[in-house]
Amino acid sequence: MERTQVGIVGAGPAGLLLAHLLHRAGIDSLVLESRSRAEVEGTVRAGVLEQGTVDLLRETGVGSRLDREAFFHRGVYLRFAGRTHHIDMQALTGGKRVTLYAQQEVVKDLVDARARAGREIAFEASNVAIHDVASGRPSLSFTHAGRERRLACDFVAGCDGTHGVSRHSLPEGALTRHERTYPFAWFGFLVEAAPSADELIYARHDRGFALVSMRTRTLQRMYFQCDPSEEPDAWSEERIWAEMRARLETSDGWKPVEGRITQKVVVPMRSLVFEPMQLGNLFLAGDAAHVVPPTGAKGLNLAAADVRVLARAMQRFYADGDRGGLDAYSSKCLERVWKAQRFSYWLTTLLHRSESDTSFDRNRQLAELDYLVHSRAAMTSFAENYVGLPFDE
Ligand code: PHB
Repeated sequence: MERTQVGIVGAGPAGLLLAHLLHRAGIDSLVLESRSRAEVEGTVRAGVLEQGTVDLLRETGVGSRLDREAFFHRGVYLRFAGRTHHIDMQALTGGKRVTLYAQQEVVKDLVDARARAGREIAFEASNVAIHDVASGRPSLSFTHAGRERRLACDFVAGCDGTHGVSRHSLPEGALTRHERTYPFAWFGFLVEAAPSADELIYARHDRGFALVSMRTRTLQRMYFQCDPSEEPDAWSEERIWAEMRARLETSDGWKPVEGRITQKVVVPMRSLVFEPMQLGNLFLAGDAAHVVPPTGAKGLNLAAADVRVLARAMQRFYADGDRGGLDAYSSKCLERVWKAQRFSYWLTTLLHRSESDTSFDRNRQLAELDYLVHSRAAMTSFAENYVGLPFDE
């Protein structure tokens, strides 16, 4: 039997950042991941970081490549009824910015930090199982590099996403599920071309939502609302561009910068929260505990917020045996999670169209957007949620 203080299941942003924060606090952990390092580092996901996430990465020594390579934006554009409106979030929030840095880049930086710390990530671990979840003495068993291993832990952190083993190891009925599904999905793709605009464009159109984002100076990321059953291969480049041009049209003739399209995917949309986020000495973090629709760009940021709370609680426990922070983990995280759920749901319903929408809904949406871009109060509310609500320390 091997031993560690914290067994971390999953090497996505939540698991890797937790391992990093714990290491800095002198707490030992082992990270298990079912995928290979190449798969983990190649997973294309969203790319918007809240100011607090950026600050946390910088303060803990993993922000230098981000500082060199990320895009820092003052705000975003909202486009509807043929016109574009800029929301200057930096001015509205006293200096907080929107940072564009892809999730897989954050993951690569954290994998590097782990290697520099000389600590293990067991990639391609199979048969991962969590034992004695509800007890004070949990353990993990897994197969790695052809060897059966068993790991005794003080705590287990379940950071393995919605479909991971962690949440599924909890006894039936231990968690309450709160869910909202949407009758639409996002069609996402990469474009080999320079950014179409200097900041992100969120567009509402009668044909449906569209988003223009970016990855690098030569690579754009774009999305448009589609049916959840859509097949990526049914969409040729010409068909995609015709749809994007239609949804992004403005009265002054704006056009997206087109280029070769790669990596087409249909991204499902849902809002999901499991409560509580802990049982005994098993703590769920990130997508294992909650999922947000991508519209608010909150997924990675919520994962970072969870593990920041968890790392501090563990630090307090190891420093003076005080379980207070650990016992309050779920309720503390859920306050932020529900605010992010509220925001993501609001922005999703503001910008998407639904088959069931009537002319009333369409006019209400347009009125709300018009109010949003003309009221300083409404813009400030949007901005402070988008760049990330403050942490109460
Ligand atoms: C992205 O760049 O992938 C992205 C940006 C903003 C979102 C979602 C995804 O709201």
